[in-house]
Amino acid sequence: MEITQAEFVSSYADVRKCPAPDKPEFAFIGRSNVGKSSLLNMLTQRKQLAKTSVKPGKTQTINHFIINNAWYLVDLPGYGYASVSKDKRAGFGKIIEQYVLKRENLYCLFILIDSRLEPQKIDLEFIQWSGSKGVPIALVFTKADKLKKNELQKNLSRYESTLLQTWEELPPIVVTSATEKTGRSELLTFIGNALAE
Ligand code: GTP
Ligand code: MG
Repeated sequence: MEITQAEFVSSYADVRKCPAPDKPEFAFIGRSNVGKSSLLNMLTQRKQLAKTSVKPGKTQTINHFIINNAWYLVDLPGYGYASVSKDKRAGFGKIIEQYVLKRENLYCLFILIDSRLEPQKIDLEFIQWSGSKGVPIALVFTKADKLKKNELQKNLSRYESTLLQTWEELPPIVVTSATEKTGRSELLTFIGNALAE
């Protein structure tokens, strides 16, 4: 799988306004600042296609990008960043919940996890919730360039054993770095396989 074309399509806060669900779709979700927009840029090799920021809470809408005129990549707002959320109810945010529950052409929801941190409650809750809704998920560990190899391995093992306390088997896992393009070909192969199924 190679990406030969990548173009911004739309930005909406309402899932009902998003493009018709007539193409396969892959979306990036995770805590604010985990690197969702950066990963989209790394995959498409377009530096500014999705807007990134050092400050959490940059992406606030559902952003569709058409890839190879055939499928969508979607950049979503982050969860777990209270001060930008006017929505005070418990949960992951209305936009995210509606998107995950309603988007029928979702082939895979990539849940991004900061590889520097020990398992975070909100990520484990999101994995549990999306899994319980029958959404196909894969875990993408981000910012791998910020750790030494043995630290990365330690954090991954800890994550896997935490997940195995509640799951019989692990979801697909990819380790990435947007700055060093780690995991790019692995992710593209994963998407290519999903499209071919
Ligand atoms: P929100 O839209 O606010 O939810 O954040 P996001 O998840 O889209 O994160 P974004 O891509 O905007 O990146 C947040 C910060 O992390 C930026 O300063 C990025 O440059 C940095 N960053 C993202 N990915 C990586 C990575 O793989 N390595 C390093 N070193 N920095 C990264
Ligand atoms: Mg973003």
